Amino acid sequence: MYSEKVMDHFMNPRNVGEIENPDGVGQVGNAKCGDIMKIYLKIKDNVIVDIKFKTFGCGAAIATSSMATELVKGKTIDEALALTNKAVADALDGLPPIKMHCSVLAEEAIKAAIEDYKSKQLASSK
Ligand code: FES
Repeated sequence: MYSEKVMDHFMNPRNVGEIENPDGVGQVGNAKCGDIMKIYLKIKDNVIVDIKFKTFGCGAAIATSSMATELVKGKTIDEALALTNKAVADALDGLPPIKMHCSVLAEEAIKAAIEDYKSKQLASSK
């Protein structure tokens, strides 16, 4: 039921952990399943130079966090904001329909972390 890529990213998730003094942090949760995803960003000149995640959730949530971090690492924040949950699921060769909401969490967590970064930038430029 899961693609090999999902299994690979679940068993060997990339970019797991925390970043000390991150430039942005985003945490989102899904009220229905109770899963939580947290993303840490290090940003330099508008580019995501490092990204780490912590996910307390199902296997698909771990695999999508892992893939999403891989997809946005090295990208500009605008490119990262354009990442959709569908692109994450496609990069994993698909997810079962009942697991698509897990990929939504990955998209939302990255967006939340970028929003946090932007609001900190605004605050420090005042
Ligand atoms: Fe909740 Fe996957 S079941 S994120």
